[in-house]
Amino acid sequence: MSDSSAFSVQTKRVVMAHVSLCRGCCCGQVERGRPDVPVDWMKGEWKMRGLKKSIQLTISGCLGPCDVANVVSISSAEGTEWLGRLHHHADYAALLEWATDSRDAGRVLLLPRRLQALRFDPFRMQATLPVASTAEIAPSAVAS
Ligand code: FES
Repeated sequence: MSDSSAFSVQTKRVVMAHVSLCRGCCCGQVERGRPDVPVDWMKGEWKMRGLKKSIQLTISGCLGPCDVANVVSISSAEGTEWLGRLHHHADYAALLEWATDSRDAGRVLLLPRRLQALRFDPFRMQATLPVASTAEIAPSAVAS
């Protein structure tokens, strides 16, 4: 994605990916009826499996797209993947297995199908949701 010689600042802490689990104003706020984010479990597993030097895990504040909470972003040299609606512990378990497998493979692997189904793009409108122009709206719908 980028030529590191183009940057004047270099870090010694190079990782293959950076996972941000959102636990902001909406994600993981169970007292507000939102699904849990298993922060302690994830941090414990990450540490026990020794993933930190290969794949950074950050528990973040609001990442922005609260309407699809719980949100996770995964950044790597390939770009950034955004996942939303992680509502089940199995979603986080799949993320953990993906991170472990990627570390073991020495490269960022494709996300498993379970997580691919949760991908979204926060920078573009969904092509599957066409926006009707005013000329396409039935007059009866506008009249009321
Ligand atoms: S609180 Fe997670 S996206 Fe806003």
